[in-house]
Amino acid sequence: MSDQPADRRLRERAKAVIPGGMYGHQAAPGAAYPQFMRGGRGARIWDVDGTEYVDLMCSYGPVVLGHQHPRVEAAAAEQARLGDCQNGPGPVMVDLAELLVATVRHADWAMFAKNGTDAATMCCTIARAQTGRSKVLVARGAYHGAAPWCTPRPAGVTAADHANLGYYTFNDLASVRKAAAEAGHDLAAILVSPFKHDAGYDQELVDPAFAGGLRALCDSKGAALILDDVRCGFRLHLGSSWEPVGVDPDLSAWSKAIANGRALAAVLGNDAFRDGAKDIFVTGSFWFSAVPMAAAVATIGAIREENAVEAMRRTGEALRDGILDQARSWDLAVRYTGPPVMPYLTFAGDQDHELASVFAAQALRGGAYLHPRHNWFVSAAMTGDDLALALEATDQAFAAVRKHLGQ
Ligand SMILES: Cc1ncc(COP(=O)(O)O)c(C=O)c1O
Repeated sequence: MSDQPADRRLRERAKAVIPGGMYGHQAAPGAAYPQFMRGGRGARIWDVDGTEYVDLMCSYGPVVLGHQHPRVEAAAAEQARLGDCQNGPGPVMVDLAELLVATVRHADWAMFAKNGTDAATMCCTIARAQTGRSKVLVARGAYHGAAPWCTPRPAGVTAADHANLGYYTFNDLASVRKAAAEAGHDLAAILVSPFKHDAGYDQELVDPAFAGGLRALCDSKGAALILDDVRCGFRLHLGSSWEPVGVDPDLSAWSKAIANGRALAAVLGNDAFRDGAKDIFVTGSFWFSAVPMAAAVATIGAIREENAVEAMRRTGEALRDGILDQARSWDLAVRYTGPPVMPYLTFAGDQDHELASVFAAQALRGGAYLHPRHNWFVSAAMTGDDLALALEATDQAFAAVRKHLGQ
């Protein structure tokens, strides 16, 4: 456990009143990590004891423009002065739906929710409502959220929760065809992420022939192609993450970065699935809150006007080049996978992420907050100084791995 006093006291109090002290993906990823955070600005964050880090996790994706982005905060504050959670949505719901339809090529309509899990689940429900079929194919090991149908942990989940899923291997079209054949006339949808980003494994970019093959298969079977853009959306491209690949889904799930850290999710779809979307009953007490929607309008505007996708790509490439140079200079064999804005580092022969944990803990001590078992996220707020500090920390982290290996 981190030996910082405020964090230690909070953990002790949490143990008594929060099951396990903490749960979910933000449980501190190692003994060196603080559990509780105080705040952030730009690409810097502070833990509850006031220690500062360069943020390479970006709240696990939502923070795309940097913490406390002035334009987003101003838009949120202006909406908050008028109202947030009301008897009906604010006009900003229509503004945001229009903006998303104009920004994302495959989208003819938009619906909103709170979490990525909501959005991924809604996409499946809409596909089933539209097609009148049950089965959804998912890639083995892919993460689509924490509801019983998709949670990676078996506790509390019944066989019935998974009964309408079929499984394929990412980038392996033959495995999709086999799963589709097993689903037969009951195939409602194929759900896929823009690239393979399963936590704890080397990442894999999509083969454009695989993406195109999924599109053709869905067309021939009358099933929906659903793109889960929750983690990648608006970080890889200002549009669907498969626009550069040349493949449009029917439905897509969004959350994380769309409101630069405010709680919001979206489902986007084409006209062929509008009726299914209209027919299902989905709602939530906070789904229509106006503040996150105002933040989303400002976020999308700022991503466009500040060329944020390009800025992240440049920083991500510089980070990758620096880290790979350092690995070579320490004579350590690593794999650095995924797009440069969402990279993941593994060490050759690493058992149970032991070396990755040594690396991440030392990087943290050196002032870079990254993760040993999950892809990292680059934000558009990273300056040259942030990058230099992060690279100083990763150099010390490679030194610690070298020392750990005893050479
Ligand atoms: C690809 C993907 N889909 C869905 C989700 C679920 O999103 P949320 O945690 O907002 O429910 C995540 C979260 O990490 C994700 O990465």
